[in-house]
Amino acid sequence: MSDERLFTFRNRWFTVSVLGTIGIAIVAALIGFVWLPSVQRDAQFSGIWNAICSAAGVPRSWYAGGVIVEPEAKLTSVEMTPQLLATVSSNSIGRGATLALRCTMCHGERGMSDANSPNLAGQYAAVIYKQLIDFQKGARSNAVMSPMAMNLSDQDMRDLAAYYASLPRPSAQRKVSDARAPAIVAHGAPMRNVAPCAVCHGGIDSKAGSPWLDGLPAAYTKSQLLAFASGARTNDIDGVMRNVARNMTAEEIDAAAMYYARELEKVRSGQ
Ligand code: HEC
Ligand code: HEC
Repeated sequence: MSDERLFTFRNRWFTVSVLGTIGIAIVAALIGFVWLPSVQRDAQFSGIWNAICSAAGVPRSWYAGGVIVEPEAKLTSVEMTPQLLATVSSNSIGRGATLALRCTMCHGERGMSDANSPNLAGQYAAVIYKQLIDFQKGARSNAVMSPMAMNLSDQDMRDLAAYYASLPRPSAQRKVSDARAPAIVAHGAPMRNVAPCAVCHGGIDSKAGSPWLDGLPAAYTKSQLLAFASGARTNDIDGVMRNVARNMTAEEIDAAAMYYARELEKVRSGQ
């Protein structure tokens, strides 16, 4: 056994491994903190220090002078919770019916639209309430509806939602398992990350906040899907519908719109 000491710089092997380790650490730090972050074009780095802070996960507001990145479009301020309409009183429906007189021109006398406006009869109260708030606050905008929502109080919107939700809704489509439902509705497009519409807009149960689509005019459904796809409509929470619509083909959009409007049924039965 040699009595040469291991941990001393006189040992050539020890020196080489220590220097080698330090060298690797420096190169790794340069790659991870400087080179990789600076190649990322979408982040606005104003120098190596920012790149280092960013790579190390330092909150941007600490080193960017408090600049917070704002979304380009106005997003919804509504949070969908089971408590959203928990305080609806029994008078709501009656008050809502009176307020609804000014909506009948477009949404029909009993909430069923003859024109291409959406039906409101039997729509979930939370959906109506949320859409009205979004129109009022500008998260959703439409030349006709935005001014209509402008002067409604919070109570008005709750009452209108309660009234329309109390009206009989257009019946659900045939079962989703029905072979005649378009593939996009029944199965989605898994390769393009599109969940089946029926998962959220199902006739039997629905995911909170998903509107009742059955019976909507085809032109309306199509226009909303196109608006989500192009980013013209941005009030869906977490972009859930934008992510669906932008991955749909034009044919799938038509098929879904026709299906929910029951146009397919009419075509097939020769009406
Ligand atoms: C002059 C016609 C008109 C009047 C009056 C009108 N609306 Fe509308 N409403 C529309 C149109 C058109 C849309 C679809 C907007 C779009 O394409 O984004 C709409 C959309 C809506 C929606 C969204 C529905 C959904 O499924 O997303 C709600 C809720 C609504 N209106 C409620 C009302 C209420 C409540 C009133 C009365 C206070 C009213 N509207 C008065 C034309 C009208
Ligand atoms: C993960 C759940 C989910 C899936 C899957 C989904 N949707 Fe939606 N959809 C929503 C939600 C939530 C909204 C309400 C957005 C908002 O708050 O404005 C919505 C809104 C819509 C609207 C607007 C309705 C109106 O009255 O304004 C249409 C049309 C629509 N979806 C069609 C579809 C179609 C067609 C599919 C299948 C290709 C689909 N959705 C799949 C959750 C979903």
